[in-house]
Amino acid sequence: MNILLIGNGAREHALAWKIAASPVCDRLWTAPGNAGMDSSIPLIPEDTQAVLAFCQTNAVDFVVIGPEKPLAAGLSDALRDAGYPVFGPSQAAARLETSKAFMKTICEKAGVATAAHETFVDLALALTYAETAALPMVIKADGLAAGKGVVIAQTREEASAALSSMMGDRCFGDAGSRVVIEQFLDGEEVSVFALCDGTTVRYIGHAQDHKRVFDGDLGPNTGGMGAYAPAPILDDAGVDHVMTTIIQPVAQAMADQGCPFQGVLYAGLMMTAQGPFVIEFNARFGDPECQVLMPLIDQDIVPLLYACAVGTLNKHTVRLSPRHALCVVMASQGYPEQPITGTPIQSLPHGDGHTTFVLHAATQRKDDGTFVATGGRVLSLVGVGDTLQQARDRAYTLIHDVQWPQGFYRRDIGHRALKNTV
Ligand code: AMP
Ligand code: GLY
Repeated sequence: MNILLIGNGAREHALAWKIAASPVCDRLWTAPGNAGMDSSIPLIPEDTQAVLAFCQTNAVDFVVIGPEKPLAAGLSDALRDAGYPVFGPSQAAARLETSKAFMKTICEKAGVATAAHETFVDLALALTYAETAALPMVIKADGLAAGKGVVIAQTREEASAALSSMMGDRCFGDAGSRVVIEQFLDGEEVSVFALCDGTTVRYIGHAQDHKRVFDGDLGPNTGGMGAYAPAPILDDAGVDHVMTTIIQPVAQAMADQGCPFQGVLYAGLMMTAQGPFVIEFNARFGDPECQVLMPLIDQDIVPLLYACAVGTLNKHTVRLSPRHALCVVMASQGYPEQPITGTPIQSLPHGDGHTTFVLHAATQRKDDGTFVATGGRVLSLVGVGDTLQQARDRAYTLIHDVQWPQGFYRRDIGHRALKNTV
């Protein structure tokens, strides 16, 4: 099979590693990929015509889409219309991620627990509602806002400031033309991942992300500073509960709405005293969650991804490793606000490809073979072990061999499960 993978982050580097290991993969290209992947090609995912032309010229058999942006732009639809099997939902099905209001409607139809909410398109009505709603209150821009569209307002002043900047000043552009105000949920967060072919769903792991930039969960939200899997907050019975009360009914509701979901359904959950509540759905793998899920899938992933594209997932089971994985993200100083770029990474370990992995996100290779950091989140260092402690030790040992003075990382990844830091 000739496979085209779309994306350029460490998530796609992890997917590329797993796909390339498949006996059924003859050729793999990653568009545009990054300097860490030898499958990278200079093809821009936004250029749909160029992607279609590449698929035709190179006899591509299967396309895997990593990030949400091409899904939101309808790349999967264009490829499917041209006859290519695609891992990744249609633009309509990706609304589970791209519209918070749509996600709430589906949760209601599916009878799935989520925070009580109201949706507003009128700033004055939203401000009036916020005068009496319970505090803290959660204010969310409806559309994609690069992970920054959520404000947890502790006071009424913060609430009205957030509403004014999203709906009045349009600080997130059209993403804030509609806003959801929802009840604050208290608990520990966990991300559950399930493959879906439009009808059948299969659990493929869960993980805990670390969204805040600094140790102790302090500082602003980021795309994710590290992750580990599995997270002890969810045991086997908890996973079964999530699959039967959240994932399965949502897949069914999507099919009933005429937009069957084909790809990976990522449920961001809050484990409250009343059980799991959905905070958000994403229509793709998490980054950095994917980096810890891939090493724990104990089989060839290509037949599973392909089955999602062609509707045969009911013929497959998923075999997961009993091991643990932990990923530490290294970012450029100044991330997430103003990352300093162009700084040299003087030395970089390789990882053994079994218990340690060095995955690239934003790097550029220089003529002498060394790398320069070119963005916010730059590297993902992954350790795999028989225990979470061992996985963590391997990831942090790997980091000691990275010489990059302008890079930084959190020292407490896994702290909720391990209760210590390095
Ligand atoms: P989202 O973009 O919807 O994933 O929200 C970003 C982050 O905001 C989540 O990971 C949570 O930490 C927090 N959050 C979102 N919704 C709620 C809520 N209803 N209650 C408490 N925290 C929330
Ligand atoms: N790590 C969070 C996300 O991928 O959305």
